[in-house]
Amino acid sequence: MGSLEQKAVEFLKTTWAELGKTASPDDRIAAVLEEIHETGTYTHTFEELEHGAKMAWRNSNRCIGRLFWRSLKVQDSRHVQDEKSMFEALQSHITYATNDGKIRPTITVFSPKNNHTNSETRIWNHQLIRYAGYRNSDGSVTGDPASLAFTEECHQLGWQGNGGPFDLLPVVVQLPGREPAWQELPKDIVAEVPLSHPQFDWFGEMGWKWYALPVISDMKLEIGGIEYTAAPFNGWYMGTEIGARNLADTDRYNLLPVIAEKMQLDTSAAHSLWKDRALVELNTAVLFSFEKHGFKIVDHHSASEQFMAFEMSENRNGRDVTGDWNWLVPPMSGAATEVFHREWKDEKLSPNFEYQAAAWEQKAAGIKKLSKCPFSKS
Ligand code: ARG
Repeated sequence: MGSLEQKAVEFLKTTWAELGKTASPDDRIAAVLEEIHETGTYTHTFEELEHGAKMAWRNSNRCIGRLFWRSLKVQDSRHVQDEKSMFEALQSHITYATNDGKIRPTITVFSPKNNHTNSETRIWNHQLIRYAGYRNSDGSVTGDPASLAFTEECHQLGWQGNGGPFDLLPVVVQLPGREPAWQELPKDIVAEVPLSHPQFDWFGEMGWKWYALPVISDMKLEIGGIEYTAAPFNGWYMGTEIGARNLADTDRYNLLPVIAEKMQLDTSAAHSLWKDRALVELNTAVLFSFEKHGFKIVDHHSASEQFMAFEMSENRNGRDVTGDWNWLVPPMSGAATEVFHREWKDEKLSPNFEYQAAAWEQKAAGIKKLSKCPFSKS
């Protein structure tokens, strides 16, 4: 909590200290306070934006990959004011970050929320690259069930999917005070990894795949009280995100029963541990396939070690690590990783990333509010 002024001052002081600046932050603080006084807001320098975004990653309690926070590449797209330029910026983000497989953690920052008009730039997608989900007439789902609601929104905007299990969704953007606009990503910039297994030949014939670049695009980046409502960011995948969740969860692709059957496991009794065996092979396939095709990925054991190294490095710099244990512990073989045996305070520091309501729900709420204006008599 606190006023914009307080948040700005705190952020500037921390940034000056962390960047080891010899000059005092006082001049910059005075200028920012005056700017806030005159305009109600202030504009970060590129240096402030860059360091703020890195700190936001460093403060992301649910992220196990934070050792690399200093390497974040920050693309400044705050000047973008039209849909065409926004799509272009998103495409160059994808190409730059994919880097032919040598994935680079990247964030693209669009203009922040305007507190006067309450208008904001948004990306409707949860991730820039993700598969559609379609509800069939028998109630089953083709594709990714996690995408059902967004896929429906895309249909309403006029997009037509192919009805397949791995259809790339279009990118939907919305600039302040404007209608949403959508565009499909050029196929050649989206890297996908066909899944195969080092021992099971049948695995490669299942037609399963996953995309290489996870770009979260619906979270808000908060730096020194300024809210960047469109600031898509990516790292590289940890194998279990795909192999133990996206393709394995019963309310996602639910592949464990199919794999167990192919492996001829006894699926009639839980105590045969068929789920666990299938899970290990699925995750083996994910790591094997990403490696085989030259896409950066990390296994959960290495990621856990890297997180412990992150904690040491933070302590050396006089900072305590905050963390959300429930998210940090990998979704398979939890206790075989060191993070399981540790605990962290789940305190939320600033700068940080925050969830925000789905853009289409916010739009609906806005319309409702208008028609039920408390000041109108009708
Ligand atoms: N868990 C999400 C997914 O499976 C991606 C979240 C971000 N992950 C990352 N490694 N940066 O698609």
